[in-house]
Amino acid sequence: MELAQAARSQWKSRLGAVLAAAGSAVGLGNIWKFPYLVGANGGAAFVLLYLAFVLLIGIPLIMTEFVVGRKTTRNPGGAFRELAPGTAWVIPGISGVVAGFLILSFYSVVAGWVLRYAVTSLLGALSGLNPEGAAALFTEFIGGTWAPLFWHLLFMALTVYIVAAGVQEGIEKWSKILMPGLFILVIILVIRSLTLPGSHPGIAYYLQPDFSALTGKSVLAALGQMFFSLSLGMGCMITYGSYISRQDSLVKTAGQVGLIDTLVALLAGLVIFPAAFAFGIEPGAGPGLVFITLPAIFAQMPLGQFFACLFFLLLAIAALTSSISLLETVVAYFVDEKDWGRRQAAVVWGGLAFLAGIPSALSQGAVNLTVFGLSFLDAVDYLTSNILLPLGGLLTALFVGWRMRQEDVLAEALQGGGMTTGMAQVWYFLVRTIAPLAIGLIFANAIGLF
Ligand code: PHE
Repeated sequence: MELAQAARSQWKSRLGAVLAAAGSAVGLGNIWKFPYLVGANGGAAFVLLYLAFVLLIGIPLIMTEFVVGRKTTRNPGGAFRELAPGTAWVIPGISGVVAGFLILSFYSVVAGWVLRYAVTSLLGALSGLNPEGAAALFTEFIGGTWAPLFWHLLFMALTVYIVAAGVQEGIEKWSKILMPGLFILVIILVIRSLTLPGSHPGIAYYLQPDFSALTGKSVLAALGQMFFSLSLGMGCMITYGSYISRQDSLVKTAGQVGLIDTLVALLAGLVIFPAAFAFGIEPGAGPGLVFITLPAIFAQMPLGQFFACLFFLLLAIAALTSSISLLETVVAYFVDEKDWGRRQAAVVWGGLAFLAGIPSALSQGAVNLTVFGLSFLDAVDYLTSNILLPLGGLLTALFVGWRMRQEDVLAEALQGGGMTTGMAQVWYFLVRTIAPLAIGLIFANAIGLF
């Protein structure tokens, strides 16, 4: 154990840490899920609520997971075990590992759709599509049997390959190139979308809140999306925090990760909604929203097929930097706690996550698989994002706020600088009271207790 500890890897620089954690955070959550959830939950009011959650709960919780990770230099299961040996506090750690596995199972399915779109656009099949054509293409593809399974398998294999090879070098290096590339491309798309004739109602829909559109369920959806998008509540940020040098500021890193992730999500909305209104695509169209809207935008651009291919490729890689963080959390647990080899853990758990994802892949039309009126894929997404992750975040906040010694928590938070003692007190208060209360109330509200 001592030896493993000494040899444990670290990010090479704080920039590397920021980009790796942002690589985990930025993914399908920002570009696929955020716009369709905004569309399904009434527009701008949902966006504002989401922003409030990021500031008051999200960024403080990234910081909290970093504190736990760097203090223990452990995976989530091991971290809780070390800080509270022999207690039930290991449960949030383990439930994080389970949540990571479940998210990976459907994440890879959707990422497979993205891969397939990257290749399709390369072959020119998206060229000149009108919105109806784009919708038909999407429905036909996801409703198939073998094609969605093939792309799901391919994406999972890539994830396993990178994680098995040992992750730090790869993640850090890839993130540094990829993240700026994706960002620039999204900006180009924002400009194209905003200059489409008839796009203005989309801007209003996205930016002018109507709070009467919010329900208890949409408040929970905003909370769940915040957790999902920031990779919170399952110990992913504990794992990544465990690789941060003690010389680096945790608060700056957490703040920048939160900022980058939120910016990408907001920009994705600014691509999708103006275009959706310009093309007459229903903003509440659900999980297909971006797969229908984007090809329609690309069809309206010079070199559209080239940009489409580049975009879906970058999105696939952004999804890959997220999926490896999901698998890595599971793998780190089995490597550290159960003495498995890294390769073995990656292949076994990646393989099982592929199998667990099959019902999600087929639930989009090939077979009629619904749970509580949701497709199997949406049901697993709902269970993890809206229940397991907020619950994990709640328990982590309670653990750090009430179970760990205050001096230890504040010392770790301040180590590496970037924050005054006063700011640290505010953060501690948010973690100890505001975050758990808010999450508790939102749960209570969503199950109709009020
Ligand atoms: N944050 C990632 C995204 O938005 C998904 C993810 C969730 C990754 C939880 C790791 C942990 O795409």
